[in-house]
Amino acid sequence: MAGQTMLAAFYRSTGPAAEVLEIAEIARPEPGPGEVRVRVAVSGLNPTDVKNRSGIMTWPIDGFQVPHHDGAGTIDAIGPGGDKARLGERVWLTMAAHGNRWGTAAQWCVVPAFKARRLPAGSGDLLGATLGVPAVTAAHCLITDGSVRGHDVLVHGGAGAVGRCGIELGRWSGARVVTTVSSEAKAEVARAAGADLVVDYRRDDVVAAIRAFSPGIHRVLEVSMAANARFDAEVCGSGAVVVVFATDGGEAVMPVRPALFKSLIVRFILLYNFGREELERAARAVERALDDRVLTLPPVTRLPLMDIHSAHELQESGPFGRVLVDIP
Ligand SMILES: NC(=O)c1ccc[n+]([C@@H]2O[C@H](COP(=O)([O-])OP(=O)(O)OC[C@H]3O[C@@H](n4cnc5c(N)ncnc54)[C@H](OP(=O)(O)O)[C@@H]3O)[C@@H](O)[C@H]2O)c1
Repeated sequence: MAGQTMLAAFYRSTGPAAEVLEIAEIARPEPGPGEVRVRVAVSGLNPTDVKNRSGIMTWPIDGFQVPHHDGAGTIDAIGPGGDKARLGERVWLTMAAHGNRWGTAAQWCVVPAFKARRLPAGSGDLLGATLGVPAVTAAHCLITDGSVRGHDVLVHGGAGAVGRCGIELGRWSGARVVTTVSSEAKAEVARAAGADLVVDYRRDDVVAAIRAFSPGIHRVLEVSMAANARFDAEVCGSGAVVVVFATDGGEAVMPVRPALFKSLIVRFILLYNFGREELERAARAVERALDDRVLTLPPVTRLPLMDIHSAHELQESGPFGRVLVDIP
C-alpha cells in the first residue's frame, strides 16, 4: 500500500561512516516494471559498499543511497507486468545498490527482477546474504574463459569472501584448487572450504609449493596482482588465464619471458561493467551450486541495523569473514 514507511540506513553524501550514515523511517518503495520488492531479512557488506559510501569509488547519488549490494529475503511485491508466480519466493540479492538507491540495508529493497535470485529451501538467509558479490565474482572467474574441469586453479586469498567462494565453486567445477593465505587461522578456513593445497604466502616458498603440487595452473583468481604477478607467471601452465578482480593499489610487474612462453592471458574484470547476460550467467552457476549444496556459510559477524556505523567500520578494518546486518 502506498504511504507505508520502512526503517532504512542511508547516506546523502559520501564520507566517514559515523558522519554520513543515517537511520530513519523513509517511504517504502514500490516496484516498477521489471522490478520486484524484497522484504530483506539479512544484508551483507562487501568492500565495495564501504568504498562507495566513503567516496573512494563514487557513483552518482539519487538524493540518497541505501547501501549494500548483497542480501537475502522474500519477494513481497512484483512490478507491473512481472511474474506474479515469484510472490513469496525466498531470494538472495546481487548488485542491489548499483544504479539503484534501494540497497539492502533497509527493511525493503526494490531491484530489477533478475538481481533477486532463487534461494533454495535448504539455504538459510545468512548464507543467502553472503553470495551476491563474492560468489558471482568467483563464478564469473571460473566459467567465463572455459571450463576448469580436470585442471588446477589457483585462488589467491582463499579465506577472503571471493576466494572462499572460488575454492568451493572451483572444486564443484571439477578442478583441483590451490590457494594462498597469510595465517594458520585463514588456512583453516580455506581447508574447510575444500582447498586441495593451502600455501602460506608469508611463510612458504609459494612457487616451489605450487610447482610440487601442480604441473601447471590453468586459471588464477587474482586478488592482488601487484603482489602475485611474479608467482602467477611462474606457476601457470600453457594458455592459462589470470583473472584479476582486485587491486590494493600497487603496480604489477610480470616477468615477460615465462608469461610469453606460456601464452598467458591476463584479464581484468569489474562487476560494475557487467551487462545483464554476463551477471545472469554467473548467477545461474551460483544457483546450480546452491542446489548442489556446495556453498557454505563463511565465518560471519552479525550486527543489528541500528549498529550500521559499527558494521561499516568493521568492514573497513578488514574483518575475519563476512559482516552481516540483521534487518528488524
Ligand atoms: N572486480 C570486481 O568486480 C570485484 C568483485 C568482488 C570483489 N572485488 C574486490 O576484491 C577484493 C577482495 O574482496 P573480498 O570481498 O574477497 O575481500 P576480503 O574478504 O577482505 O578478502 C580479501 C582477501 O585478499 C587476501 N589477500 C590480500 N593480499 C593478498 C596477497 N598478496 N596474496 C594473497 N591473498 C591476499 C586477504 O588475505 P590475507 O589477509 O590472508 O592476505 C583476504 O583474505 C576487494 O578489493 C574487493 O573490492 C572486486
